[in-house]
Amino acid sequence: MSNKLRLGILASGGGTNLQAIIDRIQDGTLNAEIVLILSNKPTAGALQRGKLAGIPTLCIDQRHYKDRLDFDRSMVAALTEANVELVVLAGFMRLISDEFLDAFPNRIMNIHPALLPAFAGLNAQQQALQYGTRITGCTVHFVDAGVDTGPIIIQAAVPVLRDDTVETLSARILRQEHRIYPEAIRLFAEGRLRLVERRVHIDPPVAKPDEALLSPPLS
Ligand code: GRF
Repeated sequence: MSNKLRLGILASGGGTNLQAIIDRIQDGTLNAEIVLILSNKPTAGALQRGKLAGIPTLCIDQRHYKDRLDFDRSMVAALTEANVELVVLAGFMRLISDEFLDAFPNRIMNIHPALLPAFAGLNAQQQALQYGTRITGCTVHFVDAGVDTGPIIIQAAVPVLRDDTVETLSARILRQEHRIYPEAIRLFAEGRLRLVERRVHIDPPVAKPDEALLSPPLS
């Protein structure tokens, strides 16, 4: 087996985060290999993107399973079969069971379009607009048993502008998602993420974390 980190990507939607990861692998920034793309939606754009890139894809349609556990077991079986080392949730719109978590302890990442712990759950961009925050952003975190509650790996901030709609704000956040998700995976691939209680330490320490990792300048 090569020394490339073996990724299994789970996606339900358009797959722009998946595409950003594919692009970073192709340009050599990310020493990883996507060995399986899994979706619960036959129409997910992510499946098309995977096929175009020549990556194995699999749709596990939840309607064919009797309950969540049954569905999760078949996902775990597919990921295990493919020898996946890191599970990457990229717009995967389902909660995952404890059994799934136990199969990949501290080896499941998610991206959320807000600065957690603010605006967890669905429609995070709309929540930020309705609340009236001046700044929001995105968070890559390890997945735990809660909803968007796991240890935070990287965050990036973006401003909320006066005329923003859910669409314009989402697009601004997505640009940062595409930057920080491959970066978080790279840190994992390089063995640089260390969990201390619920804090993620990055080794060796980043000299200027605000510039290197956390956020571009607000504009
Ligand atoms: C992203 O906004 C991500 O933060 C959220 O779902 C969306 C997925 O977008 N979890 P895409 O399918 O990667 O384009």
